[in-house]
Amino acid sequence: MKTALATEPEWYGYLVDECREIISGANHTSRRALLEGYHRLGKRIVTDPNFRKATKGNLGSFQGLGKKIGCSVQTVYYAVQFFEKYPDLSKLPPDMDSWRKVTQGLPDSGGMGGEKPWLRYYQVWNFQEADKRFGVTHPGQIPAQVIMNLNYYYTKPGDLVVDLFGGGGSTLDVCLAKDPDFGGRECRIFDIDPAREDITRWDVVKSGLPKFPHARLLFLDPPYWKQKKGDYGPDKTNMANLTLGEFHDELEKVITAGFHRSDIVALIIGPTQENWELIDHAAEMIVRIGVPWKRIQVPYSTQQHGGNYVLNAQKEKQWLYLARDLMLWWP
Ligand SMILES: C[S@@+](CC[C@H](N)C(=O)[O-])C[C@H]1O[C@@H](n2cnc3c(N)ncnc32)[C@H](O)[C@@H]1O
Repeated sequence: MKTALATEPEWYGYLVDECREIISGANHTSRRALLEGYHRLGKRIVTDPNFRKATKGNLGSFQGLGKKIGCSVQTVYYAVQFFEKYPDLSKLPPDMDSWRKVTQGLPDSGGMGGEKPWLRYYQVWNFQEADKRFGVTHPGQIPAQVIMNLNYYYTKPGDLVVDLFGGGGSTLDVCLAKDPDFGGRECRIFDIDPAREDITRWDVVKSGLPKFPHARLLFLDPPYWKQKKGDYGPDKTNMANLTLGEFHDELEKVITAGFHRSDIVALIIGPTQENWELIDHAAEMIVRIGVPWKRIQVPYSTQQHGGNYVLNAQKEKQWLYLARDLMLWWP
């Protein structure tokens, strides 16, 4: 990864040398000595004004630094977090008497090379690229990390997850994975036009919800109205082929029917932009459904909009949307 420090100014060389010394000096003779070593490492990095200025907190630079000093990015990140949380080591709670205990209370580097790069800690779930281990290529495919995070936060192994707009099957593949953070879940998956044999053919507009036992999570990733009209099938009941009014009515029906069949309903949907006006489908559902909700932003990459469209927007002094909404309801 290219970092702001690719050319290595003199101060960076000093930082690397001193961090190396700290690491080699952080002997393992006692737990306390190890703690003190990592604290010193965090302090050296955090208090370096050049490093702060050059990296603006960019963890990619931690990775570069980690490599240079022979540590994982996670360790360097933990050391920094450790110092920031407890700048005065004498104020460290007495039960935090080992590095393991200290790191258990710290966030990992979430998405920048940490042990769970897919995990998101904030209300914005952004992913540079989709995790290609899950799902087959499909129009409208979402990054599987969305399902991984949903499963992590809202389900546990053995829970049932149902997906009514299965597409390329990412939900099924994530649920079948071995990692207990997001896998080992039961999954029932449907689609009007299945892309795989392990997805059951079902048209929710024509037939309502299919049969399944009460689910922990009902996941809905319908077409974002007519956004990809030509890419999905020609059926009149394909959600991409409905009028706007019908689309909202059908979506509302599926969500409210889902309330009786699951603990949590999750809907991911992007707004439609027409003549610079935004049709905010998520907001429409918030108003129609009328029960408390949570809203997570899932940004697209900027390639979502073609070059000409961007140029035109600039000419017209208009801005373009760049995020989907992930809505959660607890009926
Ligand atoms: C946005 S895609 C889902 C993509 C999927 N989450 C993935 O990551 O691959 C929407 C899917 O909804 C399906 N669909 C559209 N209308 C439907 C209907 N009436 N009943 C069931 N599925 C429908 C489409 O065939 C399409 O596969």
